[in-house]
Amino acid sequence: MNGATMAFPSELISYLRKAQRAAALTGAGVSQESGLRTFRDAQVGLWAQYRPEDLATPEAFARDPKLVWDWYAMRREKVKTVEPNPGHYALAEMARRIPDFTLITQNVDGLHRRAGSPQVIELHGNLAQVRCSVCGQFVERWDDNGVDVPRCAACGGLLRPHVVWFGEALPRAALEAAVEAARTCDVFFSIGTSGLVQPAASLAVAAHNRGALLVEINAEPTPLTERCDYSFRGRSGEVLPALVRAVWG
Ligand code: OAD
Repeated sequence: MNGATMAFPSELISYLRKAQRAAALTGAGVSQESGLRTFRDAQVGLWAQYRPEDLATPEAFARDPKLVWDWYAMRREKVKTVEPNPGHYALAEMARRIPDFTLITQNVDGLHRRAGSPQVIELHGNLAQVRCSVCGQFVERWDDNGVDVPRCAACGGLLRPHVVWFGEALPRAALEAAVEAARTCDVFFSIGTSGLVQPAASLAVAAHNRGALLVEINAEPTPLTERCDYSFRGRSGEVLPALVRAVWG
């Protein structure tokens, strides 16, 4: 659907005008229009032979730290070359319009912050940050000679990206804040996420079960679609700005 010509139900518009507390969960689809690949898109080039799920694990890092480090280094460099898109900016605008707005993201690209969203909960960490895999120390600078994985100056352990890998726990404070937002919101948005990865995916269901309006924006139907009060099929960079215009003018 083309966001510019999109019509939204009037009940949804008046509900959003009155909403006091909202939460939004975003996934890789929100950054797709900035030029970043989603997880379930095929990889390209050198990386086409690997699935992201096979690179984003502690086991993969233990087996071949250089391979995993390089994959994240490539993504870190790519993120530096892209910009937030209108979907990111529309979410930042929603935070200015709705008194209590919590943005929860599974993305590690930092684009929501760059678009001006305050208080982003980064459930899966942030690519730009690096920490020691042994002592946990965060490092600001490291020397990547292209041959070895950089090591921690304090303990000599291998450095790793500050992201959550499959099989690892989510940062506790971030998860608690996300659960609290899902527990107390009037409306929950699920945007550009396939809804396949827990526990992030269950936030939407929890919010809906206790009475929040559930609104989805996704290019494709997802396992969540059937439960939604409203599900809009389209690109978030088009649908979100159109929704903001329809609700707040
Ligand atoms: P996925 O790649 O699983 O899903 C992306 C979703 O975005 C799909 O449902 C697409 O239909 C949708 N989509 C694509 N382009 C879009 C657009 N322009 N506008 C709106 N929707 C669009 O990504 P996530 O759901 O974010 O976890 O994946 C969740 C987690 O699984 C990731 O954080 C990562 C991954 O493996 C870890 O690395 C721990």
